[in-house]
Amino acid sequence: MKIDLILRHEDFLAKHGRGRTAIVIDVLRATTSIVTAIMNGVSSIVPVMTSEEAFRMREKHGYLLAGEENGLMIQGFDFGNSPLEFERNRVKGKTLVLCTSNGTKAIVKASAAEEVVLASFLNASSVAASAARLGRDVVILCAGTIGQESLEDTVCGGMIADALGGELSPNALEARRLFLKHKDDVLNCLRDSFHGQDLIKLGFAKDLEYASQVDKTDVLPVLDENGTIVGKKFERGET
Ligand code: MLT
Repeated sequence: MKIDLILRHEDFLAKHGRGRTAIVIDVLRATTSIVTAIMNGVSSIVPVMTSEEAFRMREKHGYLLAGEENGLMIQGFDFGNSPLEFERNRVKGKTLVLCTSNGTKAIVKASAAEEVVLASFLNASSVAASAARLGRDVVILCAGTIGQESLEDTVCGGMIADALGGELSPNALEARRLFLKHKDDVLNCLRDSFHGQDLIKLGFAKDLEYASQVDKTDVLPVLDENGTIVGKKFERGET
């Protein structure tokens, strides 16, 4: 199995997904929030590239809107993008439309792949195990932060590359090296990151504590044939 890793969504082309399983990562905070909403019973999540698209979907379907600009809730939306907002009593059985600066752009682009699974530290080992079970070559797509590589996404990608093993590309090898350096202190890795420091300044320090939890769940958010995110669960015993 060949494992490639792309450091920011701006570098992802459709050819990178062809015949592969794509694992999309945006630790702070899009994929962490998606995993949390699915743990709390959301019915589905529609990732979009622009807030205009989100408002159109509310008008047409009455869906709830979630998302951020510069880390803060988009005006007129129902939720921002803090994982702590996606509580069971607010999201159970609902459909959300999600619009974020980097994460949802990466997810929409990755839909060129055979299968798309979303990862964060919360579900990293289950994602790796499910990708291994699928047996296809893998491309790990880190969302990055406004065109920059992001430490937190690369370290999470390195954790998954380490778990998958196989033939790692130079980027995947470098990401694994970073993971081995930070694996015993993920919270401080998030606090040291460029976007982590922004979020702390905005008052979201608790989001970093929450996002730094490793393997809290077996939830597997995947993209269905309509480009909508739905939840699957990784069944350990199954072959
Ligand atoms: C992103 O997509 O860039 C992030 O999820 C933004 C954030 O939630 O701070």
